[in-house]
Amino acid sequence: MLNIGILGCGRIGQVHAGSLQHIDTAGVAAVADAFEDAANALAAKTGARVMTTDQIIADPSIHAVVIGTPTNTHFDLIRASAKAGKAIFCEKPVDMSAARIRELITLVEGAGVPFLTGFNRRFDPGFATLQARIAAGDIGDVELVTILSRDPSPPPVSYIKSSGGLFRDMMIHDFDMARFLLDEEVVRVFATGSALVDPAIGEAGDVDTAVAVLTTASGRICQISNSRRATYGYDQRAEVHGSLGLIKANNVPENNVEFASGAGFRSAPAQHFFLERYAAAYRAEMMHFIACLGAGIAPSPGIRDGLAAQMIADAAAQSLATGMPVDLD
Ligand SMILES: NC(=O)c1ccc[n+]([C@@H]2O[C@H](COP(=O)([O-])OP(=O)(O)OC[C@H]3O[C@@H](n4cnc5c(N)ncnc54)[C@H](O)[C@@H]3O)[C@@H](O)[C@H]2O)c1
Repeated sequence: MLNIGILGCGRIGQVHAGSLQHIDTAGVAAVADAFEDAANALAAKTGARVMTTDQIIADPSIHAVVIGTPTNTHFDLIRASAKAGKAIFCEKPVDMSAARIRELITLVEGAGVPFLTGFNRRFDPGFATLQARIAAGDIGDVELVTILSRDPSPPPVSYIKSSGGLFRDMMIHDFDMARFLLDEEVVRVFATGSALVDPAIGEAGDVDTAVAVLTTASGRICQISNSRRATYGYDQRAEVHGSLGLIKANNVPENNVEFASGAGFRSAPAQHFFLERYAAAYRAEMMHFIACLGAGIAPSPGIRDGLAAQMIADAAAQSLATGMPVDLD
């Protein structure tokens, strides 16, 4: 039985604790949160002990930690957990700085601890099937990838100000998805963006509407379209065009009812937001992490995938600022 410590009992910490309750070979042994009520509430739901993050990391009976605290706390928690020999499941992004992620890679790989970066979309049944069919050669050579990713509504401007910007906070998921589907490293990034949804987002120095074009060394191209607003629900689609055909994953509707009248056909909106849309993905992601720990194999995506997506995000932010494409090493 693997004992897991949950660090951070907010939105995502609760999701991961919930996933662990469906897994027989692992359990939530302890939870920690800077806000005592949050820790107590999750402890009551899971039967776990309430401890501090330091106590969990120092406890030899706890085998792994799930880091679901705000991004600016990840660096210190990863460093301490790796030093203590804990397996680490860390939410995206690993950190806001590629230089600091490189420092963590040295530490994590030096300590030899398993590490999973929480790019949950790789575990979505639709996107996982796309990738598996591409890997099986069903559409031949990949030529064009199109990723559409739009939130139902923008977060508060207070969140935007500390988020690191749309590319590092939101499009980072799509940069990882691009690498997953292109199956080749990105070498050039061009990005553009505007504040069309909320002028206050523009005043805070960010964009809410953006496009990035990524190119690989062999010339494969990925286009990503992001918006902080979609009136029809959480818009999450991908299409991959190859030499033998096309494969795509559509939105998941709230229900499968279709209504027809003389005015046309109407179906349900897309599932509202990430907690509903990716519920299956979060469960599969946790099952993968626990299965890898049990089998002694490295979880994927790992910390180097976290760095690669961060480097693309940094290049996109630079491209937006300069209006020029940016080459990656
Ligand atoms: N993969 C995904 O789909 C996904 C979705 C949401 C959030 N995230 C990521 O998860 C992380 C958390 O986001 P969230 O939306 O759950 O935030 P949240 O604010 O809902 O939860 C964070 C929790 O951490 C606690 N906390 C803050 N500092 C702490 C510390 N030093 N030690 C212990 N607890 C501390 C807060 O009190 C809060 O309860 C972020 O890095 C975010 O980018 C990922």
